[in-house]
Amino acid sequence: MNRYGLKEKIELRINHATHHIEVDVRDTLLDALRDQLGLTGTKRGCDMGECGACTVLMDGKPINSCMLLAVDVMGRNIMTIEGLAQDELHPIQQAFVENGAVQCGFCTPGMILTAKAFLDHCSNPTDDDVRQAISGNLCRCTGYRKIVEAILDAASRLRRGKRHV
Ligand code: FES
Ligand code: FES
Repeated sequence: MNRYGLKEKIELRINHATHHIEVDVRDTLLDALRDQLGLTGTKRGCDMGECGACTVLMDGKPINSCMLLAVDVMGRNIMTIEGLAQDELHPIQQAFVENGAVQCGFCTPGMILTAKAFLDHCSNPTDDDVRQAISGNLCRCTGYRKIVEAILDAASRLRRGKRHV
């Protein structure tokens, strides 16, 4: 803590690795991910909880990282898009590529992590289920049709057991 009491050393668990960093107590998780840890796959869009571009998973649930203070997520398991692929792309990522669901790509990390959390609990969704699940993630490019198709395709791939993560 500095003389103004604004700095704090924290431990963050990101993508199964532990990081020790010093943050301003006013820094959001998004600030820490992008500016301190270099995990720039998490995008800064509106910075006010509206667009979903900054979505990461916290204990498996999608959250807007721009709306949480970094000091408040100690002890939680955070997954960013960098932690999703292992030896090969995750089936959701592969489905986005093959279905043309990525244009500028700005919404893509948040969309994919939202889709992962959703498909972890809903293995055989309908079109409407998918639209509801991604309703907090905005995309300015695709018109959403390709994204919905990609998530339905990913669900099918996961049901066929191509990969379980
Ligand atoms: S940047 Fe966090 S919701 Fe838009
Ligand atoms: S692909 Fe550009 S915002 Fe979604």
